Amino acid sequence: MIDKTKLPTVSYDDMNTMHYEEADLINDLLAKIEKGSDSEVTSAVEALLAHMQKHFEYEENMLKNRGFGMFDIHRSDHNRIMGETRMAYMNWRNFKEREALREFIEDEFMEWLNLHIQAMDSVAADFLSRLEDS
Ligand SMILES: [Fe+2]
Ligand SMILES: [Fe+2]
Repeated sequence: MIDKTKLPTVSYDDMNTMHYEEADLINDLLAKIEKGSDSEVTSAVEALLAHMQKHFEYEENMLKNRGFGMFDIHRSDHNRIMGETRMAYMNWRNFKEREALREFIEDEFMEWLNLHIQAMDSVAADFLSRLEDS
């Protein structure tokens, strides 16, 4: 399980809410990997992918066409993890290897999420907070 209180926070509250929701889905997936059926694991990965899509579209829609200089690099960092998570999903569908899926989530995905929030979302949050203050 991951401790969502340890996730980095940003200066824009709705983004934090989105990240906490994602952490809840990650914990649900880890619980299903631990002791759910194969189809429950599949559904939990699908729920995570759907939430990632919503999370990334939400941020990109707020940032695009507003002169945010890091838009392209931010979006491509979303696209990269989306591609890797879809790949992990395909591997799960094909091979049903729980350990490989758990490692992907606990190591690669969580490392990405922590770094992305610190390096990309925090800058985006400050930009959005400034826009709304002015
Ligand atoms: Fe985010
Ligand atoms: Fe982001």
